[in-house]
Amino acid sequence: MATKDFNTADTATAIQTIDQIVDVIAATAPEIRTGLPGRRIKSEETNPSGETQMAADVFADDLLCKRLGALEGVGEYASEERPESIDVGTGDLSVAVDPLDGSSNLKPNNTVGTIFAVYDAPLPAHGRDLVAAGYVLYGPIMTMIVARDNTVSEYVITDESNYELVREDITLPDEGTVYGFGGRVPDWTDDFTEFARDVEKDPSRKLRYGGSMIGDVNQILTYGGIFSYPALESTPEGKLRVQFETYPIGYILETAGGSSSDGEKSLLSVDKDDLHARSPLHIGNTDLIAELEAALA
Ligand code: F6P
Repeated sequence: MATKDFNTADTATAIQTIDQIVDVIAATAPEIRTGLPGRRIKSEETNPSGETQMAADVFADDLLCKRLGALEGVGEYASEERPESIDVGTGDLSVAVDPLDGSSNLKPNNTVGTIFAVYDAPLPAHGRDLVAAGYVLYGPIMTMIVARDNTVSEYVITDESNYELVREDITLPDEGTVYGFGGRVPDWTDDFTEFARDVEKDPSRKLRYGGSMIGDVNQILTYGGIFSYPALESTPEGKLRVQFETYPIGYILETAGGSSSDGEKSLLSVDKDDLHARSPLHIGNTDLIAELEAALA
């Protein structure tokens, strides 16, 4: 994947703003994590996708909006939890976040994450406008993946003022060994069901599915393989949101040498002009994504 030139007037400012966004995400993550125990309850509200918000979703969104919105180089902020993007300043970059991906996992105390996407364009932006993307994984260890400048790095976040680089130039292992597929199996299309059964038949692969996309994607980044949240018979656009989930995750996986697809083409080529539009998502090793696209053609 080629490094994108900035659309904005001043490249140095844009680079500095991305550094600051990454710093803010790393500094806010420990506070989000500390705030989770008392917020495992549903709020009274639904998000623009019609899902009941957890108190933790609203809490994380408010914190991130305040902190990211205060950066001089950021002009717009949007999140899965608010209907519209908001103007936060005069900067050229836009930030879109899923403040707490997989928040239904809070009740059983399983993995959740924070996803961020930095676009060099007003929102809703296109995948080709991405200049950086990443996520925090609130697992046993708090890690942060960042894709920018054509490379993917992993950090360990220790506290509000420290995060440490632990892996550079991350690439997917050549032989993918895990797979995970979301959605109700009876709701899968026949073509996808057949593909999934073929993937399962290979004795070198095993199922790893947790129900929180960030946890499931991090399995693929670590072990290689394939993760899908496919088109469903009941919802042909799948579940995941383009601006906040499928563009940034596609960008990270492609930067790490893997592939992404909506079933036909790269996730980064998806054209959707609604802020909360959805798309099927498939990410993983290039050979598996090619097989998937052939199976769905
Ligand atoms: O986008 C939200 C999310 O929680 C993802 O993290 C996850 O992959 C998916 O929804 C799981 O949804 P469901 O349990 O409804 O299939």
